Amino acid sequence: MQLRILLLAAAVVVAAMASLKPATGQDSSCETSCGDVPIEFPFGSREGCYHTPDFLVTCDRSSGQPVPLFRNSTIVITNMSTTHESEMEIKTFVATDCYNSTGRTERNITFLRSSNFRISTKNVFVAIGCDTRARIGGRRGMEFDSTGCISTCGSNMSSITNGSCSGVGCCQVAIPEGMRFFNITLSSYSNHKNILEFNNCSYGFVVAQGKYTFSTNDLHDFGSVEKMPLLLDWAIGNETCEIARKDTHKFLCKGKGQYCVDGYGGPGYRCRCRPGYAGNPYRENNCTNINECELSVCQHDCINDDDGGYECRCPKGYSGGDKKDGTGTLAAAIFLLIFIAWLYLGLKKRKLILLKEKFFRQNGGIMLQQRISGEGGSHHDQAKVFTIEELKRATNNYDETRIIGKGGYGTVYKGVLFDKRTVAIKKSKLVDQTQSQIEQFINEVVILSQINHRNVVKLVGCCLETEVPLLVYEFISNGTLYDHIHNESRRDTLPGS
Ligand SMILES: *[C@@H]1O[C@H](CO)[C@@H](O)[C@H](O)[C@H]1NC(C)=O
Ligand SMILES: *[C@@H]1O[C@H](CO)[C@@H](O)[C@H](O)[C@H]1NC(C)=O
Ligand SMILES: *[C@@H]1O[C@H](CO)[C@@H](O)[C@H](O)[C@H]1NC(C)=O
Ligand SMILES: *[C@@H]1O[C@H](CO)[C@@H](O)[C@H](O)[C@H]1NC(C)=O
Ligand SMILES: *[C@@H]1O[C@H](CO)[C@@H](O)[C@H](O)[C@H]1NC(C)=O
Ligand SMILES: *[C@@H]1O[C@H](CO)[C@@H](O)[C@H](O)[C@H]1NC(C)=O
Ligand SMILES: *[C@@H]1O[C@H](CO)[C@@H](O)[C@H](O)[C@H]1NC(C)=O
Ligand SMILES: *[C@@H]1O[C@H](CO)[C@@H](O)[C@H](O)[C@H]1NC(C)=O
Ligand SMILES: *[C@@H]1O[C@H](CO)[C@@H](O)[C@H](O)[C@H]1NC(C)=O
Ligand SMILES: *[C@@H]1O[C@H](CO)[C@@H](O)[C@H](O)[C@H]1NC(C)=O
Repeated sequence: MQLRILLLAAAVVVAAMASLKPATGQDSSCETSCGDVPIEFPFGSREGCYHTPDFLVTCDRSSGQPVPLFRNSTIVITNMSTTHESEMEIKTFVATDCYNSTGRTERNITFLRSSNFRISTKNVFVAIGCDTRARIGGRRGMEFDSTGCISTCGSNMSSITNGSCSGVGCCQVAIPEGMRFFNITLSSYSNHKNILEFNNCSYGFVVAQGKYTFSTNDLHDFGSVEKMPLLLDWAIGNETCEIARKDTHKFLCKGKGQYCVDGYGGPGYRCRCRPGYAGNPYRENNCTNINECELSVCQHDCINDDDGGYECRCPKGYSGGDKKDGTGTLAAAIFLLIFIAWLYLGLKKRKLILLKEKFFRQNGGIMLQQRISGEGGSHHDQAKVFTIEELKRATNNYDETRIIGKGGYGTVYKGVLFDKRTVAIKKSKLVDQTQSQIEQFINEVVILSQINHRNVVKLVGCCLETEVPLLVYEFISNGTLYDHIHNESRRDTLPGS
């Protein structure tokens, strides 16, 4: 029983609080569109749906087709935006001033009272005519400002050009910032005398930039363009964010994903969704985190956070983010490059080893090894088989200063072996070799290395890992080595000479 009373009391309190709450347009019976124009809070088509009567949109269905109207006027709304811009596009009348041969026939002055809305500076004031003085007056703050332009055509009509509003047939001026009311007045200098056949009326209007292009035809037939689109800027109230925020009950930009902006040239504040959030910023907590992951912004795993952001994760074994902007791709590219370079160098080294083995075999290296081991290894004067590296070190990488002979046969270098022995190393030029020649060469290497005669230069060994074998001789300091190696009697014993 007590519980029931408690619940009833709670329900009463909740109902009372709800009735105190300012309109938020959350009511499901509120119209959300009129024709193809959406009606979003703070706008609404009736009390309880709009924020204040300034945001009333009347949906006129009298003609069968729903037409949204600005407040309770006859001004038609053609577009509205609440999320990114705070703009409203309306149709306004064109001011006219017409003449016949006896004088002025009719004059229509247009005006717009936008209350706390402002005429956007994205509009321009345009006047059309060949005898036209156009003035636009507006209220900015407390003062009344007016501006305008003059359009004439001169005597030569050929100077009027399509698309140009520079004072000949058409003129235009910018709209000052912060205007909240305007009236347009048109007048003539000489009642369009002498030009009535092609221009009997002057026209004036405020139009969104880019929505009107002057045509010479408009000078004598403008009737079909009755109304022009104009942009209004709107904001909430007449206070800045800082002040408005203090009244937490009335302040609208409430929610984690929402913030307040001011400073557009008029009073009041505007609400926006934070980056990464979407929704209606004028409704409490309506800006919600966009799930960027559903928009497939990542190439691999995507983690959407609750703070308006998201993170792209790489698959296991990769590093760096992989947002489609390419930072992850760069890291992957660098990694790939290093891997390719490593692979290339490895293959090159392996190829070099294989080449060395190939040359060693080609030059009878295996045959020589067999011969040497066949001799029982007892002979201390056996030919030594050198590696490329050993001879490179001995000649200081075939340094120019080590050259002791050079000719058509090749080059002879002076070298110092690891065991401090001084030797002459012969590097021959390329020649073709047949199998029998190689056999003969190996035989001679073996024999020459065993001969100890003062007239014969002793062969220390050879290197078979190069394309053409390198021969290593004992160094003879007296007499040129050339004489020793290349005396006619021994020439044929040295292949490649
Ligand atoms: C509607 O127009 C009447 C006058 O035509 C005006 O008194 C009234 O305040 C207007 N209502 C709103 C909500 O603007
Ligand atoms: C309506 O306004 C929105 C936002 O300003 C704009 O993107 C859209 O092009 C407009 N539509 C028309 C028909 O002008
Ligand atoms: C202006 O001239 C056009 C034809 O050029 C005519 O149809 C129109 O009725 C005239 N308007 C006035 C107010 O005289
Ligand atoms: C000019 O317009 C006035 C008023 O509309 C009319 O009374 C008059 O007859 C017109 N004059 C000519 C020459 O058409
Ligand atoms: C003058 O303005 C009224 C409404 O204010 C409109 O009904 C009428 O058609 C306009 N006349 C011309 C010539 O634009
Ligand atoms: C108008 O100007 C053009 C050149 O700009 C000229 O050829 C033509 O004769 C002029 N016509 C008149 C009526 O002055
Ligand atoms: C335009 O508005 C100003 C200021 O309210 C006023 O003084 C002026 O008479 C108006 N002009 C016309 C033609 O209504
Ligand atoms: C301007 O364009 C209209 C068509 O939109 C054309 O009929 C007219 O002759 C053009 N005028 C000039 C001066 O090129
Ligand atoms: C701001 O608006 C309130 C009513 O909405 C009004 O009472 C107050 O005078 C306005 N203040 C200014 C500076 O316009
Ligand atoms: C945001 O407002 C719209 C109506 O404008 C509503 O349909 C939607 O459910 C709201 N979203 C949240 C998260 O409150």
